[in-house]
Order: sequence, then C-alpha cells, then structure tokens
Amino acid sequence: MTMRYADYLQVDALLALQRPLTAPAEHDELLFIQIHQVYELWFKQVLHEGDALVAHLHAQHVPNAMHTLKRMRAIFKTLVSQVDILETMTPLSFAAFRTRLEHASGFQSRQFREVECLFGAPLPHKIDMLAPRDQDILRERAERMSIFSAFIIMLKKSGLPITDDMIQKAQHSGTPNPDLHPALIAIYRENSSFAGVAEQLVDLDEGLQEWRYRHIKMVERTIGTKPGTGGSDGASYLKQTLFKPCFADLWAIRIHF
Ligand code: HEM
Repeated sequence: MTMRYADYLQVDALLALQRPLTAPAEHDELLFIQIHQVYELWFKQVLHEGDALVAHLHAQHVPNAMHTLKRMRAIFKTLVSQVDILETMTPLSFAAFRTRLEHASGFQSRQFREVECLFGAPLPHKIDMLAPRDQDILRERAERMSIFSAFIIMLKKSGLPITDDMIQKAQHSGTPNPDLHPALIAIYRENSSFAGVAEQLVDLDEGLQEWRYRHIKMVERTIGTKPGTGGSDGASYLKQTLFKPCFADLWAIRIHF
C-alpha cells in the first residue's frame, strides 16, 4: 500500500495530543494548549537549525551558514507574530482555566532554555525546576559549542588574531569581551562575507529579543501584575530579561563605525 499523508505525518497521534482539562470545556483552553505545542515544535526546529549552523560555521562554510541563518530568522518572525493569535484571548477567558495549570509555566520549557544556551547563555540557576531527564539534556546542551563560539572559531581559522581565551569567553556571548573587538571591527571593514554572517547573527539576536518583548506585553494584558504560575513575580520578572543581547560584542562594536 502506498504511503498516505496521515501516516507519514502521524496526524492521528498529533491530533490526540490536545487535551483540555476543563469540564465543561472552556473554549480558549484548546487554543492555549495548541499554541504552546506549536511553539515547542518551532523551538525544536530552531535547535535543529542551530546545530546545523554551528557545524557550518565550524566548517567555514559561509553560504550554508547564511542560508541557515535566514531560515532561523524567518522562524523567529513567525514566533513573534503568533503572539497575535493568543492575544485574542481575554483576561476573563484565561482566568476561567488558569488554575488548571497549577505550577506549570513556560518557565519550565526545556527547549527554550536549550535555545538560550545555544545562543550563548550559561546554564540557568533554576535548572532544578525541570524534570531530572530535562536537566540532563540541558546540561548536555550547555556543554556543546554555542553559535558565537563557532563564529569566532571561523574567524580564527581565516587567520584573524583570535586567542583560545577569546574562543572560550565567546561560549557565553551575553557579556562583551573588548579583546575581541579589533578582529570584529576588521571583518566589518574588510570581509563583507563574514560581516554578512555577523549581521545575520544580529538579526537573530533581535528576533529573540522581539519575542521576549511581545511575550511580556501578552502577559501584561492577560494577567496584569499577577505572579506567574511558575512562581516568579510575573511581568516584572520577565522585564529583567529585556534588552539583554545574546551576541553582546556585535552590538558593542557599533560605536566604532
Ligand atoms: C496568556 C499567555 C501567557 C501568559 C499569561 C504567560 C505568562 C508567563 C509568566 C508570568 C512567566 C514568568 C514565569 C512564571 O512565573 O510563570 C512566563 C514565562 C515564560 N513563558 Fe509565558 N505566558 C503566556 C504564553 C506563553 C507562550 C505562548 C509561550 C510559548 C512557548 C510562553 C513561553 C514562556 C517562556 C519560555 C517563559 C520563560 C521566560 C524566561 O524565563 O525568560 N509563554 N510566562
């Protein structure tokens, strides 16, 4: 028998995964579950593409890196615009089923923390919020090369004056390292293909920051200043994560041009 659409895509299994807990069902609970599931699928794809990006950079394959970066940026645009859909849910509709979440929260999204690690964040302090298996996966992810590290290794391989210390520090790229700036400024002035990769990295960084901003506005309009189900102060906690770049050096060098 030939392959069918539903078999290839496991459609029955997929459609069996949305299980609202309210009875009688609150209309918006299905949307709430489904949109989070869609986000998790996109996070999976971002990690898949991000791993490929690290490999392309490590292999100094700029065209492949650019292709993957463009795709990742397009996914982030989708992640940001999907907020519009959940923002059609009123505070009243959410309140009708919020207690069913108990302490469940996006705070516990292992894949989101993996994306943060890939984008150069250190292992989060609150890793114990995750299930033991997720903690192991996240620790393993944090050991792997971050995107910015792979980028800096690519520059070293091309002959730029990059030390091992710079590569090591680039693993956690949220804090700028001024020692790296002469090499980065040089590529912007002299190597348009590496500079193109750097600009795509800035696009990606902006994509994650845009998502954080839109998520906070969604939180504010849905629960106001209430604490989160995950145990944080809610919007005020989330605001502390704003305007923190992933590839801090690429922002820091801009004053030199
Ligand atoms: C009405 C919709 C939403 C509300 C009210 C909401 C609320 C919150 C709150 C209050 C937090 C802070 C942690 C806590 O104490 O719970 C949080 C964190 C988080 N949420 Fe949402 N959220 C919503 C939708 C979403 C969606 C659709 C996603 C997509 C996956 C998401 C992903 C996350 C992530 C990844 C965090 C951790 C952010 C960080 O620590 O930087 N949230 N959310």
